[in-house]
Amino acid sequence: MRHFLTLKDFTKEEILEIIDIGLAIKKDLKAGVYKKELENQTLAMIFEKSSTRTRVSFETGMFQLGGHALFLSNRDIHLGRGEPVKDTSRVISSMCDMVMIRTFEHSMIEEFASYSQVPVINGLTDSYHPVQLLADYMTMVEHGVENDAVVAYIGDGNNMTNSWLMLAAKLGFELRIATPKGYEVDADVLEDALSLAKESGAVIKVMNDPKEAVHDATIVTTDTWASMGQEDEKEQRIKDFDGFMVDSLMMCLAQKDAKFLHCLPAYRGQEVSEEIMDSHSQIIFNEAENRLHAQKGLMVWLNKQKG
Ligand code: CP
Ligand code: NVA
Repeated sequence: MRHFLTLKDFTKEEILEIIDIGLAIKKDLKAGVYKKELENQTLAMIFEKSSTRTRVSFETGMFQLGGHALFLSNRDIHLGRGEPVKDTSRVISSMCDMVMIRTFEHSMIEEFASYSQVPVINGLTDSYHPVQLLADYMTMVEHGVENDAVVAYIGDGNNMTNSWLMLAAKLGFELRIATPKGYEVDADVLEDALSLAKESGAVIKVMNDPKEAVHDATIVTTDTWASMGQEDEKEQRIKDFDGFMVDSLMMCLAQKDAKFLHCLPAYRGQEVSEEIMDSHSQIIFNEAENRLHAQKGLMVWLNKQKG
């Protein structure tokens, strides 16, 4: 049995296999074919933070695969009132076939997984958002930009940056990360990624100049400046991130047909301009839709690992 907590635990071949399953499922769905690969199975979805895409994609995906998803907000279950993580894990995993968790500290999901009888999927923690990167990579494949990709991530050193680091380090592409001073990526995650990059051939560079990062990039991406849980810092961050908005002047520095990705939700006029959101809307909303297909691929793959 395998869990899906970070991409660090997966080989390049496994990541590509999950994407391939997801793409095949997407093709079937577009042809009106629904294979009930998870018939009678239940996915428990524990949310300690808000969500639009993650909730809708997992719930819809599980239904389309013939199973059922349970939405469990921490406001409604005893976890939010102090029932220990290990007890919650033992109980839920004795009844459900898979668990997806969106929470704050990454250690919570690790603890949950260590007591779980069934696969646990990270639906976002403060440290990582790996299911988003499955959808992002699927989108790169569909747009034919996965080979020799030079990805520029502009903005906050956060869970998305850490996840891009792991994807690049595993798959072996070039990733440049530009953050303002004081908002750099986690040093331990960077060290892990640099060490993995030695095996995969990935080129990883961190800097404080967004223009340098974007220069000749084939893919430009960003994320909110204030993640969930950082609402109180928002005003300060808007000041500190001055000059980090991805707008047309910034995109002009990338390659002529460079793609723009955003995990969403996007804050127009902050990390990205309205104009860039409009001109790249086709790929951005395909990326969002791919959450559904990539996660169906993941759930089918995890189910197969149970043997
Ligand atoms: N990108 C993403 O995870 O979106 P939600 O927060 O809406 O789930
Ligand atoms: N970094 C963001 C990602 C949202 C999908 C957050 O954690 O809020």
